[in-house]
Amino acid sequence: METKPIVLTGDRPTGCLHLGHYVGSLQNRLILQDQYQQYVMLADVQALTDNYEHPEKVRENCWQVALDYLAVGIDPEKSTIFIQSMIPQIAELTIFYLNLVTVNRLKRNPTVKTEIQQKGFGESIPAGFFMYPVSQAADITVVKGTLVPVGEDQLPMIEQTNEIVRTFNRIYQTDILKECQALVPKAARLPGTDGKAKMGKSLGNAIYLSDPQEVLLKKVMQMYTDPKHLRVVDPGQVEGNMVFAYLDIFSPDPVRVAELKEHYQRGGLGDVKIKQYLFEVLDAQLSPIRDRRAQLSKDLTHVQKIVLNGTAQVEAVAAQTMLEVRKVMHLDYKLK
Ligand code: TRP
Repeated sequence: METKPIVLTGDRPTGCLHLGHYVGSLQNRLILQDQYQQYVMLADVQALTDNYEHPEKVRENCWQVALDYLAVGIDPEKSTIFIQSMIPQIAELTIFYLNLVTVNRLKRNPTVKTEIQQKGFGESIPAGFFMYPVSQAADITVVKGTLVPVGEDQLPMIEQTNEIVRTFNRIYQTDILKECQALVPKAARLPGTDGKAKMGKSLGNAIYLSDPQEVLLKKVMQMYTDPKHLRVVDPGQVEGNMVFAYLDIFSPDPVRVAELKEHYQRGGLGDVKIKQYLFEVLDAQLSPIRDRRAQLSKDLTHVQKIVLNGTAQVEAVAAQTMLEVRKVMHLDYKLK
């Protein structure tokens, strides 16, 4: 009999979640929670690896991200939301796994390499940041996750995890750890409102799930379209035009989008018109989320209880994993 996959996914709580998260992972999680046991982790320890000077911000963002989760419909009856730093077994496993990985192997991790450049660490790379892929292997294996929904940029983490799993099982002659599989969303990555390939907080080109209606309108009105489309009568370009890129993803009416594209290319359709339509499309999807979020944020204690309750459930699972790990590693010290 085949056992149901256990899903482990999560986010670094470094800010509120945006539309890129929505199409890239949140929508998938709503589907996955109906089919599998899904754990959704607030990766505060990982967030600290490059925010260690601002733990209070990471903490606040944990609650904000939890609000985003609940607002989009991640259901605590179906998904278990938990806080990484409250599971000490993750830290424990990380220490054991570090012996199974070489420094050279970590140096070759393409995701970490790119991030080191982006964050400008230079020669002063925090060791905690450098080894976070090992900690990520602990996140996944502590709940015996076998299906890990991640963006394409995270594939090296899954590879690293499976290497650790295989090495661990070989050296300690066991099969208690399970290899996992990445689940990469089919949807193309959502570009930023400015036309950059990626939507991101640090890039200042994001539309947040928590943005009030007037902020949404403003951001849509400032979106990158076709800089050569100066007069309404001029033909405009659809490729690279963010309004159409977003309409392709979010509009429920592809026929109307095709007509608008055709009209825009022919000339006679102004940017304000297409932006007004995109605003309506986005607002129709975001306003229920926004309303639920506002409702939930009135009682943050309730949200915190949900997260701490999920964390307690994970603690129990993690304790069981640790018993098994300690046994095969001959670390189950006790008096005979
Ligand atoms: N590295 C992920 C990110 O940057 C977050 C994360 C931490 C994660 N641990 C994980 C994702 C385990 C999947 C599984 O978004």
